[in-house]
Amino acid sequence: MNKPSDEIKSRLDIVDVIREYISLKPAGINFRANCPFHHEKTPSFIVSPEKQIWHCFGCGKGGDIISFVMEIEGLSFIEALRALAPKAGVTLTRQDPKIASARNRLLDIADLAGKYYHKLLLESPVAQSARKYLEKRGLTRETITQWQIGYSADSWDDLLNFLTSRGYAEKEIFSAGLSSKKEGISRFYNRFRGRIMFPIRDINGNTVAFSARVMPENEEKEKMGLSTKAMAKVGKYINSPQTMIYDKSKILFGLDGAKLEIKKHDLAIIVEGQMDAITAYQHGFLNVVASSGTALTAEQILLLKRYTNNLSLAFDMDAAGEMAADRGIREAMQADMNIKVVLIPGSKDPDECIKNNPKEWENAISAAKPMMQYFIDITAVGLDFSQIEDKKKFKNKLLPIIAKLGSKIEQDHWIKKISQLSDIHENDLREDLSNINININKNNNSQEQIKKDETALAPLSREEMIAQLILALALKFPRHIEYIINHIQPDQMAGQENQLIYKNLITYYNNIIDNFDRAGAENKKHQIKYEDFKAWLENSLAHKIGFNNEVNNTNKGNNQLSLLDKLVILGDKDYYDYDDSQVKNEIIKMIVSLKKYYLFNQKKEIEKLIARAEKENDSANIKLLMEEFKNLIEELRDIES
Ligand code: UTP
Ligand code: MN
Repeated sequence: MNKPSDEIKSRLDIVDVIREYISLKPAGINFRANCPFHHEKTPSFIVSPEKQIWHCFGCGKGGDIISFVMEIEGLSFIEALRALAPKAGVTLTRQDPKIASARNRLLDIADLAGKYYHKLLLESPVAQSARKYLEKRGLTRETITQWQIGYSADSWDDLLNFLTSRGYAEKEIFSAGLSSKKEGISRFYNRFRGRIMFPIRDINGNTVAFSARVMPENEEKEKMGLSTKAMAKVGKYINSPQTMIYDKSKILFGLDGAKLEIKKHDLAIIVEGQMDAITAYQHGFLNVVASSGTALTAEQILLLKRYTNNLSLAFDMDAAGEMAADRGIREAMQADMNIKVVLIPGSKDPDECIKNNPKEWENAISAAKPMMQYFIDITAVGLDFSQIEDKKKFKNKLLPIIAKLGSKIEQDHWIKKISQLSDIHENDLREDLSNINININKNNNSQEQIKKDETALAPLSREEMIAQLILALALKFPRHIEYIINHIQPDQMAGQENQLIYKNLITYYNNIIDNFDRAGAENKKHQIKYEDFKAWLENSLAHKIGFNNEVNNTNKGNNQLSLLDKLVILGDKDYYDYDDSQVKNEIIKMIVSLKKYYLFNQKKEIEKLIARAEKENDSANIKLLMEEFKNLIEELRDIES
């Protein structure tokens, strides 16, 4: 049987999968995008549909469909398989020990619990009033199914018994956040009891946690002070704790279903409550996610930035006011994202607004104000700009926010606005702003520089670049390999990794010839397939027979493989429309310039040696070296003519 990873790779198209995260633009036979793994302004991230691989020429990352998902979701290999399996229609058997990692067990538990709660809500007599309540709130049956809304019975152990009967240990259930334990009491009990259950899913749709709403009758009790001691402590919503599968700062409610719509509309609307998101969805507003009542984190913003640069926050007024101080928002503004604030008339919940009048909601969305405008407006409330004190207050509040904006154009825009409104001279504002900027730079620069240097690749020298282009051509047009091998030696290839892969290619090529009779080989070697060479290379690296740089680096084998991917994409990218004679010309030109470079370096070396020999009066050596020098010069001249 095929390995699950091969099965998944064969059933999915890398372009479709990567498209779910970033927009790809056609470029020759490949696709191109801004790299999601490092900050860049011109796209150097390339995807090859033919080879089913990707590579970024900016940061050097690359690989196949699985490594892409690992990288972008921060998953392990097994976890990435699990994320891709449903899309590929591949069932990973639960018993497979390799995929029964602890994390996956917890995901299975959360998934099973979600189904259990959902079935209870749909079918159980104990969920009668929960069903009524959801109906009263306007949720359709379809919505309930789509979001897998559920109900937790008012019981201490029904879910626990169900899960243990399915083979999960009490410890594991606890680790999945579904049970609690009191000090002094030895038994675990259901964490969620008598509540409406909203599964919280990760970006791939795996249930990872729950948000549980109290039943309205208990909510009322609580309000009227009739609650028992135990009731008094429970909030309107209780949520799963942080677990191995649930990091709440990295999850947005509804993002799994909304991500493609967000990309399509190039806009994410962020609401606070899950009921808001669900109602929006039911009414056809599909690009909506919920922050679940907490401030947006920098991680959540980055998650959204994969799909759009435009965020509209439909928060309640107080919350929006507090956001001025919010780190997540500020980071987003710095990350060049356009953030707007949606003001809902009558300060209703999005949920109520949409139910009452979807048109009103639509209008509110299209009338959203830029975040900065919103800050200006709320800051101006109650100020009298004929008073110097108020002018100062105004300026001191807003300039630090403006200083954080990613673009100078934007900063300029808001300086003008503030100046008009407050009658403070633009130049004075600018001067203050540049002082703030200087301070910010002082604090940030050194650290950010370090970060940047870590992610950026050391730029290739011109010669290394040429060496890679020759190798790229060799891989893309194998009929020219023989010419290349006959005209340039491995040590004349610039760059150590390039030399290694070239040696490996030569070995592979010769192997093919050895393994076939002459006529067969003639044919075969014109059709060297990248996949075959890669498999051979993988195999030979694993058995340590391929050329490999073993100097204190266990990762070198991987370097070779990822360089191979890079070269193949490079060939597709730069030479996809070349015909045979163009290719040949290109190869000749590049070999000449590499050789020149090589000989030039040799010449410099020899000159040094000659100088030393002269100092030491070593006449025998001088004679030899001069001879070599003469040959070199001739060779160089030959090449240049
Ligand atoms: P809201 O109080 O606005 O709830 O809190 P809501 O979504 O409008 O709920 P309904 O309409 O009364 O049913 C917004 C969000 O804040 C989180 C929840 O995620 C909620 O959706 N929250 C609220 C909590 O986590 N705990 C709470 O006690 C209250
Ligand atoms: Mn509400």
